[in-house]
Amino acid sequence: MARTLNLHLKVWRQASANAKGYFQDIEAKDIPESASFLEMMDIINQRIITAGADPIAFDHDCREGICGMCSMVINGRAHGPEVSTTTCQLHMRKFHDGDTIWVEPFRAVAFPVIKDLAVDRTSFEKIQIAGGFISVRTGSVQDANALPISKEAADSSMDAAECIGCGACVAACPNASAMLFTSAKAGQLNMLPQGQPEKHRRVLGMVRAMDAAGFGNCSNHYECEGACPKDISVRWIAKMNRDYALATVHEAVIAPTGKGGGDGG
Ligand code: SF4
Ligand code: FES
Repeated sequence: MARTLNLHLKVWRQASANAKGYFQDIEAKDIPESASFLEMMDIINQRIITAGADPIAFDHDCREGICGMCSMVINGRAHGPEVSTTTCQLHMRKFHDGDTIWVEPFRAVAFPVIKDLAVDRTSFEKIQIAGGFISVRTGSVQDANALPISKEAADSSMDAAECIGCGACVAACPNASAMLFTSAKAGQLNMLPQGQPEKHRRVLGMVRAMDAAGFGNCSNHYECEGACPKDISVRWIAKMNRDYALATVHEAVIAPTGKGGGDGG
């Protein structure tokens, strides 16, 4: 027979962005060890609904570690105690019978609470819109081999492309900095030949959108890398800083139009 756990939950409840939040005590009895953390939340919510109360709002989508939606701070850690693991891939067998588990939303000025554990991460989309794309058609599948790309550059770009935009890096950082996310999204394109024509415009736009959204600056705590479920390295932040410095020189000296230039020079 499947083993079960009896847990004491302390879950952040907040009716809306401007409402006062509080921790609600919830006794979570008979939770299967085989359940994922989100399945445990489903079980709790079903019981809350059956009792006629308001279920806990939380974000989720793929439940396979690829969409980045499952934003929760569990026992003080973004995505919980397991390294390189999203909340949806965290399983209750990692906890013990009788444990007390604190569940909170990702906390950052740029991630305002919508309700309970759900936060608004539109600020990430604004960063992406400011440059996280290539604006020309780059060819069909058969064209891929027509453009020489070194194995090192392709591997490196793929490493950055693993970022799922979850925001754990922001939640873990004492400055609520989004530099790991922004640098991964800019870096994956700036590594490739297709990304070169817009690289200055890209990094200027994305960094300025990041600042405008209210994220803090990086001061080298490395908490972002530690919390990242996809093991994005802080070396991407160093690359973004170099790319940004070059882009500002390009903007000031070579293309002083205020548009950041686009010739990749
Ligand atoms: S860098 Fe890591 S922690 Fe930050 S958004 Fe991307 S996947 Fe999530
Ligand atoms: S629900 Fe998609 S990554 Fe967790």
